[in-house]
Amino acid sequence: MKKIIACSFVSLCMLLGTVIFTLAAGNTGPADITLDEGGKKPAQFTHKNHQDRLKCGECHHQMTADGKQSPYVEGQEIKKCVTCHNSTVLAGRMKDKLALDTFKGAGHGNCLECHKAKKDEPAIKDKKIDKCENCHPKK
Ligand code: HEC
Ligand code: HEC
Ligand code: HEC
Ligand code: HEC
Repeated sequence: MKKIIACSFVSLCMLLGTVIFTLAAGNTGPADITLDEGGKKPAQFTHKNHQDRLKCGECHHQMTADGKQSPYVEGQEIKKCVTCHNSTVLAGRMKDKLALDTFKGAGHGNCLECHKAKKDEPAIKDKKIDKCENCHPKK
């Protein structure tokens, strides 16, 4: 009997530990995401793999009251890209030739720009991460 009580106590502590750890680590979102605004080219995204390699602020950011981009802050609320990157909030905003008032513009400006910059790194050269099919798999 003593053994069983001791055992359940240990399991309970472990369970509590996991809960507390998860809460402290904050919400990191889904491991894999299909980015899909209902168009013809949804994009596949390995969120967890990217989190393991990059800082949250490489992709997530905030907006100031006067509509400028402001940097990611640890623990901030994370909103979907299209809550800002739509034709109302960021109407007419551009970066180079990309329309930032669309999900495509935000996605290509973030994802594709980095993939183009890193595609020739020796360890990943063979993966051709700049190709359309890397993110938009053929059906
Ligand atoms: C690194 C990832 C990535 C690569 C590579 C990429 N895209 Fe995208 N693309 C995205 C993301 C993210 C979106 C936003 C998803 C959405 O609009 O549903 C998007 C959106 C789009 C859209 C509009 C979405 C729709 O459903 O109509 C088109 C068209 C598109 N991409 C074409 C291309 C073409 C053509 C290439 C190759 C030259 C390419 N993309 C390469 C990530 C990528
Ligand atoms: C390489 C880019 C990238 C990195 C790095 C990244 N994220 Fe994300 N994250 C995204 C994208 C894109 C989405 C999907 C947003 C959407 O659906 O509009 C997302 C979604 C999320 C969501 C869910 C938001 C929602 O309402 O659906 C959370 C939470 C989140 N990320 C937290 C984090 C945290 C915390 C980190 C750092 C540990 C991180 N992300 C790192 C790109 C990234
Ligand atoms: C709270 C609002 C908001 C959210 C949510 C948001 N953005 Fe932005 N983003 C902005 C603003 C504001 C700018 C600056 C626009 C300008 O320069 O005119 C910007 C600029 C950008 C740019 C161009 C500048 C740069 O950093 O390269 C990219 C690319 C971008 N966002 C991608 C994303 C992606 C991807 C997501 C989702 C993971 C996202 N944004 C979520 C508000 C937001
Ligand atoms: C700051 C750089 C950077 C950003 C931003 C970025 N990626 Fe990547 N991504 C990489 C690198 C580097 C790899 C190759 C990793 C490897 O194989 O070691 C990769 C790999 C991938 C892969 C192949 C599967 C995997 O996990 O290896 C997909 C799919 C992908 N990225 C989609 C996206 C999408 C969609 C976005 C935007 C929401 C995005 N990436 C944003 C750097 C980035």
